[in-house]
Amino acid sequence: MAKTLVLYYSATGTTKRVAQQVAQVLNADLAEVHAAQPYTTASLDWNDPQSRTSLEQHQHDSRVAVKDDLPNIRDYDTIVIGHPIWWGIPPRLIADLIDHLDLNGKKLALLATSDGTGYERSQRFIERAVAENSYQVKVNQGAVLNNRRQVEQWVQQF
Ligand SMILES: Cc1cc2nc3c(=O)[nH]c(=O)nc-3n(C[C@H](O)[C@H](O)[C@H](O)COP(=O)(O)O)c2cc1C
Repeated sequence: MAKTLVLYYSATGTTKRVAQQVAQVLNADLAEVHAAQPYTTASLDWNDPQSRTSLEQHQHDSRVAVKDDLPNIRDYDTIVIGHPIWWGIPPRLIADLIDHLDLNGKKLALLATSDGTGYERSQRFIERAVAENSYQVKVNQGAVLNNRRQVEQWVQQF
């Protein structure tokens, strides 16, 4: 039977709630991804050009380390990655996450939460990280899921 894992990163709990809903609807397993060095409230301040996230997100093609507690994805056919949108793109630790997952032969589905930004740039960001790793993987069109109706629509693809 096809098995799905929902892997998510969430700094302030919004993506976590959506990931939980999606995992429940899909009867999927759920796992949280952590930053190797956790983000403080000050580091999430987008009004401060010197905050950690402002600096990281503006540093093109950089990587931010994920914590070394990732689940084994070998037994899953489909991996869902969920994340907030920071400065128009996923947190840079999502690129490091992709580096650390062996996605060959899997299906990858993407979701995010945001305060309004759509998924287009995030899709390109993730497709580039996948290409950099030369994974043979089918990447589904991702979406920003900010309410229950959008979640219900998005899960129809499975
Ligand atoms: C550093 C930072 C940058 C953000 N940049 C954007 C952005 O470019 N566009 C947007 O719509 N929301 C932006 N947001 C808002 C988050 O995407 C939104 O609140 C998200 O739902 C948070 O998810 P979380 O609670 O799972 O961390 C930003 C938030 C942070 C902390």
